[in-house]
Amino acid sequence: MNIEMKRIAVLTSGGDAPGMNAAVRAVVRTSVFYGLQCYVVYQGYQGLIDGKIKQANARSVNNIINKGGTILKSARSLEFRTPKGRQKAFDNIKKFEIDALVVIGGDGSFTGALIFQNEFNIPVIGIPGTIDNDIYGTQHTLGYDTALNTVVEVIDKIRDTASSHNRLFFVEVMGRDAGHIALNTGIGAGAEEILIPEENRGLDQLLESLKHSEKSGKSSSIVVVAEGDKTGKNVFELATYVEQNLPYYEVRVSVLGHMQRGGSPSCFDRVLASRMGVHAIESLREGKSKVMVGVMNDKMELTPLEEAIKGKSEINKDLLRVTDILSI
Ligand code: F6P
Repeated sequence: MNIEMKRIAVLTSGGDAPGMNAAVRAVVRTSVFYGLQCYVVYQGYQGLIDGKIKQANARSVNNIINKGGTILKSARSLEFRTPKGRQKAFDNIKKFEIDALVVIGGDGSFTGALIFQNEFNIPVIGIPGTIDNDIYGTQHTLGYDTALNTVVEVIDKIRDTASSHNRLFFVEVMGRDAGHIALNTGIGAGAEEILIPEENRGLDQLLESLKHSEKSGKSSSIVVVAEGDKTGKNVFELATYVEQNLPYYEVRVSVLGHMQRGGSPSCFDRVLASRMGVHAIESLREGKSKVMVGVMNDKMELTPLEEAIKGKSEINKDLLRVTDILSI
């Protein structure tokens, strides 16, 4: 049963991720397809507070499916964390007669969305967008696949120079709280060791593994380190520690940083974004809200926002075993 709804608004929030534009396009076009009016909000929740809201039509989202970043811009709004800020945002929701809100972002953005619906009873639905893939209730977040491909491409290049100079490289990848990027790109790029926040195997194991690599005749090596790893040392300190303990290694560090968040989305992310956008609008029309759209075993699923925020997206520990076997 479809509920009475006329106007939808969509915003992007938190760290940008490739595929966000494809999701905005899908939300706008699906709304139009079902005869709804769609409004886009610029600058995330801050734009909602400041009234940066514009009506969109099917043509407003031409030629964005392939673009990285977010054309709607993103911001972390401190004002939206205050009741006064949220009241201002709701005043604009009323002014523009918006019936429901689609939030494309990560768990911080979903926390804001949940509080907003609880306070003002405005239906919200989340689309998970973050390269970290650290959201419960979906096997893939928007931007994750693109980031994996970007990182693997860069590590391949680092491997060329590492092997030309017989060097050991520590490559730091994003993932403040999650090791998905490190684990998968580590395997994809043939790393010796992968250090992730979820599993601290200790510095001794790292030294042992590198000693073994050297003895087994490897002349160069790559260690992939997630930025949130739990060794207690940052990537530069790790490099120094290894050089001090294994002086035969000449070590270099590459911190990949925000380049991992940019670039044109992969086909996988474009398809995912398109499916999520369609499903988000169809779910709102069915009266669903306070939920996040996700994909599980290639099927679209809804997870309560509360669970998506509190739950932990587990890493696949078997991937560590695979690395151990293949890095002999
Ligand atoms: O997008 C997620 C993430 O990339 C994290 O891995 C990283 O720690 C963080 O964003 C950094 O974001 P910012 O520089 O925008 O605060």
